[in-house]
Amino acid sequence: MQNQARRIGIISALHEEQAGLVGQMEGATVSRRGMRDYVSGHLWGQQAVCVLSRIGKVAAAATTATLIESFKVTEILFTGVAGGAGDGVRIGDLVIAEQLVQHDMDSRPLFPRFEVPLTNLDRFASDRHLSDRLARACQAFIDQDLRHALSDEDRSLFRLEAPRLHRGMVGSGDEFIHGKERLGQLRCLLPDLLAVEMEGAAVAQVCFEFGIPFAVVRTISDEADANSPVNFVHFIDKVASRYAYHLVRRFCLAGG
Ligand code: ADE
Repeated sequence: MQNQARRIGIISALHEEQAGLVGQMEGATVSRRGMRDYVSGHLWGQQAVCVLSRIGKVAAAATTATLIESFKVTEILFTGVAGGAGDGVRIGDLVIAEQLVQHDMDSRPLFPRFEVPLTNLDRFASDRHLSDRLARACQAFIDQDLRHALSDEDRSLFRLEAPRLHRGMVGSGDEFIHGKERLGQLRCLLPDLLAVEMEGAAVAQVCFEFGIPFAVVRTISDEADANSPVNFVHFIDKVASRYAYHLVRRFCLAGG
């Protein structure tokens, strides 16, 4: 598809996960639908629509459907934070979702655990091409931008000297995971789980149903344990917005 015809929808749950992007938009216009502001314009040469979904699967699904139906986006990028769930997934690392599961979906005995009824699927795959492009943007961010994107103080506070990029399974549910026991239950059921969040798999289901390619990137803000609420608040305030801005910039500049 030619660049002209493409329009990317960029979703985050919270203001801090998208801060700076709207200010960067050229020719921005705002349309309010269903209690959300959809900001359309150009970002680093790409047609884009930025929106905050708010938190949770229903909020994310409604936002995704509106982006597709009303704003005619041709692809979707979700950028936000997540709790680390996999071995070696640490605060400040980046996780690109290759498959997404709704970890709170349980229609047993009618359907197997995690299967989304009447889709025959328990995991939704993100788009390979978009995810590869996103991975290149993430690596360029880690290698080239991180040093100047954050203050020395914040980098050492969160120990962000050498963040890593992971790719694999992300679980979404209407639950903020903040305990080792609960995380352990999920890891037992889903051994390949890398990160937990509250929107990605809902975006994935809607994109699957409408046939729209999508990619999801999450910065790890906490380790889904008892410290999570504190780490989460500090992290999104100081770090998440800087990550999101630079990642989206690299992603848009890479184009095609
Ligand atoms: N988003 C960021 N951290 C999270 C956590 N621990 N659980 C769910 N969503 C999150």
